[in-house]
Amino acid sequence: MIVTVITPFPELLGPFFSTGVIGKAVEKSLIDIRFINPRDHSDGHYGQIDDYAYGGGGMVLMAEPLARAVDEAKAGGQAFVVHPGPQGVVLGQHLVESLASKEHLVIVCGRYEGVDERFVDKYVDLEISIGDYVLTGGELPAMVIIDAVARLVPGVVGQEAAVEEDSFFRGMLDTPHYTRPSSWKGSEVPRVLTGGDHLKTSSWRRRQSVARTLGRRPDMIARANIGPYLDKGVYVILVPARREVTLEEAEAIADLGASFGCERAIFISTDEAFHKELQESLGGKGKVLRSPGRAIAWIKDREKEDPFVIICGSTDRGSIHWLEAKRLGLASGRPIVFLAGEGAESFTPDPGQQVSLGPVRGGRDDRTLSCPRDTLAVILDRFFGRR
Ligand code: ADE
Repeated sequence: MIVTVITPFPELLGPFFSTGVIGKAVEKSLIDIRFINPRDHSDGHYGQIDDYAYGGGGMVLMAEPLARAVDEAKAGGQAFVVHPGPQGVVLGQHLVESLASKEHLVIVCGRYEGVDERFVDKYVDLEISIGDYVLTGGELPAMVIIDAVARLVPGVVGQEAAVEEDSFFRGMLDTPHYTRPSSWKGSEVPRVLTGGDHLKTSSWRRRQSVARTLGRRPDMIARANIGPYLDKGVYVILVPARREVTLEEAEAIADLGASFGCERAIFISTDEAFHKELQESLGGKGKVLRSPGRAIAWIKDREKEDPFVIICGSTDRGSIHWLEAKRLGLASGRPIVFLAGEGAESFTPDPGQQVSLGPVRGGRDDRTLSCPRDTLAVILDRFFGRR
């Protein structure tokens, strides 16, 4: 990956590119860092790059030297040009991921009161803010952007898995970390981490991430894929009412569930002959049972725990917001079951272990999705999609 920094103060960034993880990445040519000083593109005698703001209010970086610097950076090739500034979109991990996919990133640092807006309009693809506060220039934000992006470039961070476990990678906060000594000022390292049981360690880490995210940043749950943080399985049960599910529908729902990480899709059918035919056509992808009660009992037996049932309903009566259901399901630590289809609402498992969702609605005239497969696709995406 190439990163070109356009700044009148390249010396501010020097040590950053020769030290630590970023220093190693530069040394190993995993990232190629280039500097362009807009003063080298000035027309003025003293390398002038700023001038008084029209209408008053301090100094502004001139458009032309910056434009020439960007032209030099691109040198006939393609590049994605960003400009750090407090008016920009706020940097988050999703934006970092998208920047990491660029082959050449050009970062144009501002100083003084800002840069001539005409340069921004014509040359900048995206303005990025690193937070709601004002700094004296774009060099610190440039380092922040480069640091976050470089960590995602393959080979830069030693253990790839470490990046995956980091805060925000899957939209959840990181687990706590400890090192020696195991006892410090009367505090012990959690026993599970010193026991050497990898399964127990990863389950503990998952639960810590969940507890931290729910406690500190519940807003993040909306965008997170909670699948990797569940200790128990996820199931879909389809309860048709007026007619049997067709073989094609059942297969499509079983495939949909599998692609979102569900353990099994279960179809309820009381028609003996069809029951067999359906089971045969589904093979190992799905299961056919006679009633939702039996399906819940089967799941309970398999998981050794009562499931948390989410009824995907068609009315708002008694329903909760999907985000609340997502938080509750995650906090419950239980297997999660999505009960869908016209017959789902008439089924009442034990109170306290179930919640109902209202219909999936949207679009210009707020239409309701009626097809159970489409409804499930939307709901599963809200819980387990990469958002
Ligand atoms: N330049 C000045 N303040 C800034 C901020 N908050 N983010 C990015 N660039 C800036």
